[in-house]
Amino acid sequence: MTYDIVIVGAGGGGMYAALEAIRRNPALKIAVISKVYPTRSHTSAAQGGVNAALANKHKDDTIDLHIFDTIKGSDYLGDQDSITYLCEQAPILIRELENLGAPFSRLEDGSIAQRPFGGASRHRCCYCADKTGHTVLQTLFEQCMRYGIQFFNEYYLLSIEENDGKCQGVIALNLRDSKIHKFEANSVILATGGYAKMYWHKSSNAAGLTGDGGAAALRAGIPLKDMEFVQFHPTGLRKSGLLVTEGARGEGGYLINNKGERFMSKYAPEKMELGPRDLVSRSIEIEIREGLGFESTAGQFIKLDLTHLGAELIMQRLPQIRELCIYFEGVDPILEPIPVRPTAHYSMGGIDVNTSCETNIEGIYAVGEGACVSVHGANRLGGNSLLDILVFGKRAGMEVVERASKSGQPKISDSQVEDQQKYIDGLFGKTHHERYDVIREELGTTLGENAGIYRTKDALTKGVADVYELRERFKKVKVADHSRLFNTNLMQVMELGSMLDLALCVAKGALAREESRGSHSRIDFPTRDDKNWHKHSIFKMTAEGDIAVSDKPVTMGKHELQERTY
Ligand code: FUM
Repeated sequence: MTYDIVIVGAGGGGMYAALEAIRRNPALKIAVISKVYPTRSHTSAAQGGVNAALANKHKDDTIDLHIFDTIKGSDYLGDQDSITYLCEQAPILIRELENLGAPFSRLEDGSIAQRPFGGASRHRCCYCADKTGHTVLQTLFEQCMRYGIQFFNEYYLLSIEENDGKCQGVIALNLRDSKIHKFEANSVILATGGYAKMYWHKSSNAAGLTGDGGAAALRAGIPLKDMEFVQFHPTGLRKSGLLVTEGARGEGGYLINNKGERFMSKYAPEKMELGPRDLVSRSIEIEIREGLGFESTAGQFIKLDLTHLGAELIMQRLPQIRELCIYFEGVDPILEPIPVRPTAHYSMGGIDVNTSCETNIEGIYAVGEGACVSVHGANRLGGNSLLDILVFGKRAGMEVVERASKSGQPKISDSQVEDQQKYIDGLFGKTHHERYDVIREELGTTLGENAGIYRTKDALTKGVADVYELRERFKKVKVADHSRLFNTNLMQVMELGSMLDLALCVAKGALAREESRGSHSRIDFPTRDDKNWHKHSIFKMTAEGDIAVSDKPVTMGKHELQERTY
């Protein structure tokens, strides 16, 4: 199968790229390969909204304020050229999405509604009740269908192929019959999502957020960036870790400890519950460590109280949250506070790309949570994630169209396909005896304990050693199901391999970075160290399969480094 453009991943970033490319050149042959059915992509889990300085609610909001809030939120690790592009494009993208049919919630005057979100100086977050990502995804899928984009659903990415530094396409496994296919193309966009599911039970992520694109990129010689920065969202449901949107606090919900105190007054007296996520999560963790949390057999937690908001507001603006609380906690937030705890939510790190979404291999691009264009730096602001996938999905779509008309014939050889077949056959080895689910569980536990919200040298050293050991044991993991038909066991084993490679990046990067910045909090290095650590971390896979860590400079702009207080 030969295409002009192959896009891997059918979340918002991948679909916006496909849509933009086909609108610019309807003659292009575009394939979108996706591990899940497109409308089940993780974009649908984004609840609270998407930021754009529309100034509908606060008339004095500006793009410059959005830029500054994002740079400050990133703890000055974000690249200012990319952040400027992100915020400048935001109002354009929201209006475009509205014109494509996304049904945004409205203010009284009929304009798009905007709610307050963490770390933002104005009410800037546009929303569709608490189902914003779901709405974005449905809207983009409809449009892709309209333009006849070809989808290959339930195909798993095996490898990214290049020759002489130029993209040749990808190889993927069709999960329905376990057959391997090559997709030749000289432009590939990776839109494969994040990697925070490696924290397993302590994550808000869909089961499929296992970093497959990042792991395939490492194997193809493409570096990853800033992998140690993993965002813990303050309010995951106590038992499942599922997201309770920041929009709940934006609508006026507040956090209480076991003394009934709104403890955020101690940590962010001005912003209170709407401080940035890293700060709010750390505050919850401190409350729990100081014995001010609530006890339960499912672990310690604090409470998010929405009861004062009333049934009407909750039903209108937070209906999905109410359902999730009832199904997963047996708690109706109209009647009682919600038990919550921080949950691994977002990967700030990812495939190293520039503002044009280009990697180091000509013709290979990356967008969305799986990429690190570095608009989020060390801590992402809520509402900037959907924005990132829209803005840079569109940008990648623009960039590949330029390229597709100029490039030659791509080629993936039979031996490249055979290599992948050998890899798959190897996973069924008869002498294997380790269980993937045991290793996956142990991986989540060691990351949660040793590379979580608070980190130390000793804990991270243990975390790194544990991941090395789990990677060794992974070589003996048994694919117990030998069926060729929809073998999810095979897929889960491959996903575990991806998570282990990326977990090594997370733990090694966190051990190396001897400072505290954004989501990365070292108890042994409690302050930000701009002199030694104002730089991106870069991760490459060595020929032996180990991970080497280096660095590169942050792109600054008109905003100088400042102390970050809220
Ligand atoms: O809290 C939320 O609704 C999540 C939004 C986001 O991650 O941007």
